[in-house]
Amino acid sequence: MTARMLDGRALAGRLERSLQQEVETFAAMFGRRPRLVVVLVGDMAASASYVKSKSLAAARVGIDSDVVPVAATASTADLVALVKALASEKHGPADGILVQLPLPPHVDTVAVLDAVPPDRDVDGFHPENAGLLSQGRPRFIPCTAAGVQRMLIDAEIPTAGKHVVIVGRSDIVGKPLALLLASRPPVGCPPDGTGGCDASVTICHSRSGDLGHLTRQADILVAAVGRPGLITADMVRKGAAVIDVGINRVEGKLVGDVDYGPVSEVAGWISPVPGGVGPMTVAMLMSNTLLAAEIRRRP
Ligand code: GUN
Repeated sequence: MTARMLDGRALAGRLERSLQQEVETFAAMFGRRPRLVVVLVGDMAASASYVKSKSLAAARVGIDSDVVPVAATASTADLVALVKALASEKHGPADGILVQLPLPPHVDTVAVLDAVPPDRDVDGFHPENAGLLSQGRPRFIPCTAAGVQRMLIDAEIPTAGKHVVIVGRSDIVGKPLALLLASRPPVGCPPDGTGGCDASVTICHSRSGDLGHLTRQADILVAAVGRPGLITADMVRKGAAVIDVGINRVEGKLVGDVDYGPVSEVAGWISPVPGGVGPMTVAMLMSNTLLAAEIRRRP
């Protein structure tokens, strides 16, 4: 079997084109554009590159965006004060505020993320947004999790009654994705099971023991750990959909968590790295920023 590719780049392009029209409608109605402010702490090359992708996407869809660079030596108190200042009126309407992660080790990341007002938390990391998602009434859904669900929906890969195995229990990807895919169908969900919900979900992590035993049971396998080559062909059930969320730099090249070549001989579907989940994460951030602007609806 040679897997069909889940082309996240192409889908993100289609989503961006439709978002661009919605942004124009917003701008015509309210006389301003949605605005995203990204806080970039330190000089990690990977973070700078992700932030650049976000700024470029914002420009493509017509969202105003600013990057606020901060020295790696900034303290937790400095960053909390900055986030609060960005959220105050005198700095202009920042509909969405995003603090690029990871922060330097001396910084209390939770304290900084909790300072982002929940109605501008386009990452969906604030406990209020995480709580809303867990109760089945999401507001801002974390972008990578939303992007993976959208890829499954777009490819019409059934989730209802299927077994999803997620490797990785992070607050950014694993946990919100498990909640999303296991959720009850929202109004308008297609009746044929391709709505990205109603799945049975297993979350695996570093203490899961025989990982292969669990991953081989997956109809849909999601790898979100950040370890190159973690998922090998013998860990995948024939015909399964394999979604690779990992982004690792190996000898200057970007690779995922999945051993792509051999796994694509076994899987029914596979997402590449780069060009899979990454562009979808960025597209969903643009969607969350427009949603934040619509929630605020300020002239
Ligand atoms: N670093 C890696 N992924 C993310 C993300 O989704 N949001 C933020 N803020 N930082 C990240």
